[in-house]
Amino acid sequence: TTPPEAPTQRSFVLIKPDAVRRGLVGAVLARFEGKGLRIVTMELRQVTGEESDQHYAEHVDRPFYPPLRAFITSGPSVALVLEGDEAIEVVRALNGATDGRKAAPGTIRGDFSLSNRENLVHGSDSPESAAREIAFWFPGLG
Ligand code: TYD
Ligand code: MG
Repeated sequence: TTPPEAPTQRSFVLIKPDAVRRGLVGAVLARFEGKGLRIVTMELRQVTGEESDQHYAEHVDRPFYPPLRAFITSGPSVALVLEGDEAIEVVRALNGATDGRKAAPGTIRGDFSLSNRENLVHGSDSPESAAREIAFWFPGLG
């Protein structure tokens, strides 16, 4: 084998309740796995309001937060950690723009979401966020 081309990273991903409800978990995972990212750990989780407040700490005072909180706690989600070269940026690129109506076709949100709220997936936005989110959601992970 040849050496990695870039540092291996880990990203926290949440497949949100809309994706679980719509039976799109497999389709979403296929995008990540097809790209070559590896699943480090994965779990079906019912996100609580308190977990939402911590996960979305940077957004809790925004006007969109109360309906976002209601949505994210509205049913089970799949929480996972993905690993691979530049995983954080790669996951964000696969997810597409936040607003599904504007996200490019070929991205997860662009192909499956017509909403700025119910946009199927979360991916960490920086190494600092990834470290914080992985420690929060999977405290046992080395
Ligand atoms: P944000 O961190 O801006 O987007 P991203 O998930 O792409 O990092 O926002 C977090 C989530 O909040 C976003 O995925 C969907 C929701 N949201 C709204 O419901 N309304 C909005 O106007 C924005 C900006 C986000
Ligand atoms: Mg964000």
